[in-house]
Parts: sequence; C-alpha cells; structure tokens
Amino acid sequence: MSTSLSQRQLPVRKEKSEESRGKTVKIWAHRGCSQRYPENTLLAFEKAMEIQGLEGIELDIQLTKDGHMVVIHDERLDRTTEGTGFVKDACLKELKKLHIYAGENAAQEIPTIEEVIDLLMPRLKQGEGIRLNIELKNSVCPYLGMEEKIVELVHKKGIEQWVVYSSFYALSLERVRKLDPLAEIGVLDGRVSDCLYKLKGLGADALHPSWRGMDLSPDRLKGYTVRAYLSGHLYPEKPTGARLDLDMLEKQGITDVFLNEPEVYLG
Ligand code: G3P
Ligand code: CA
Repeated sequence: MSTSLSQRQLPVRKEKSEESRGKTVKIWAHRGCSQRYPENTLLAFEKAMEIQGLEGIELDIQLTKDGHMVVIHDERLDRTTEGTGFVKDACLKELKKLHIYAGENAAQEIPTIEEVIDLLMPRLKQGEGIRLNIELKNSVCPYLGMEEKIVELVHKKGIEQWVVYSSFYALSLERVRKLDPLAEIGVLDGRVSDCLYKLKGLGADALHPSWRGMDLSPDRLKGYTVRAYLSGHLYPEKPTGARLDLDMLEKQGITDVFLNEPEVYLG
C-alpha cells in the first residue's frame, strides 16, 4: 500500500445529474438485483449494471480459509448453496465448486470481490457511473486482515473514488479509516441514532440504518447522507413489483435506499 494516500491525486467522480438518477431518493441495488436473481452473484450484478439512473450496487465480503475475499452475505454456506458450514472454514477452490441456483438461468458460483469489480469496472469509472458499497461482513467472524486486503485491492483497481465501505463493526471501519484517510465510510446499525453516534466517533461520512430504525427527527439528520437498508432478502420468492413510497422515506431524512428490486423504480 502506498504511504501517501492522503496526498494522492484523485480521479474526478462526477455527481449524477437529476435526470439520470432517481428523482430525489437515490437507489442502490442491494446484493445486486437480488429479488429476481440470486443475491451477490455475477448475474445479479450484471442485471444491476444495466439499470440507468442507479446510484450504486451494494454487496457483502468475507474471507475464505486461504485468505481470499468472496462475495456472500451469510457466514454459513447453507442458505444460498448446497454446501454446509462456514465460509471461513473453506478454501476458495472448494467454494468455487458450489452452486447457487438461479431459476431458469445457469447456476451461479460464489464470486470473488475481484471478479465483481472487474465485471463492474466499465460502469464504475464512467463519468456518471455507478458506485460500489462494499460491506465488510465481519461482526460475527472477525476476518483479521480483511480491511488491508480490500483497501489494497480498491487502490490497485483505481476505484477508490467510487467506493463506500461499510460495516456493522465499528473497529473495522476505524481500521479502514486508518488505512485510507480519504475513504468514504458508511456506518451500519439498526437505528439511525446509533449510526450517528458511531459516525461522530469514527469521523465517518454516512449513516446506513435500517429503514425501520429512523428514530431521529429529520431536522437532526439535515446535512447527513442517510442510506437506509430494507431487511430481508427475498429471492427465490416471486418478484413483487411492489413499490415503496420514496417520498415518505425522504420526509424521514433518508437520502438513499438499498433495494432488492431497483428495476421496479428505474427500469
Ligand atoms: O448494507 C446494507 C444492508 O445490506 C445491511 O444488512 O444484512 O442485508 O447485509 P444486510
Ligand atoms: Ca449487506
């Protein structure tokens, strides 16, 4: 890693114009287009990349036994693959043999974060391209060294201006901040009040609460980026096509929302 990150020349990331994004609340694809396609797979990310006006894509990373960063939400393999046991106890080669079934589409495999970044690269670096929220999924398994690995990879790929790091684990975000003082950091927690206290302690940039945890008045949230997530993953249930009232979310102080079915709003 370079020792002069804070002095580096940063590429310019243009903000999206009003016409090319959601009208007010910005929309992110949560684990890719994870309502119609299996979450955290190249297929779900490919579908998200096609959506014009999308603010960004969110995903989760964990470490394999042999130290590779893979994109998967649960600490265990059981829900999304035919495998069993913990991600941390399997080598990448073993994980790559597992299948994530994808309806009529070809079965998917667990991707590495590098594979996902390479897939998204054309849109990550476009003038008004998408952003990438990398959630370090380390509040159950600590995954020592994952912060160094991901910050180094993001810099190697030259996409630091497009990345937002997040975690429920404050110490992990503190490590990211030390590794890259200019990194954009979002604090995850259930309640927005808890996010706010952690944000102040960490010098973080954004609040990432549950949309059910908006326990502060919008006045207290003025000036903050508030990216709310909706709990629950829905695949392989049927696409719902149901729409949330984004104006109602905005009135609560929410600026961005992570959705499993972003195509319903922007497609
Ligand atoms: O990053 C927002 C959201 O993804 C956090 O919850 O459980 O879906 O990773 P979870
Ligand atoms: Ca997540």
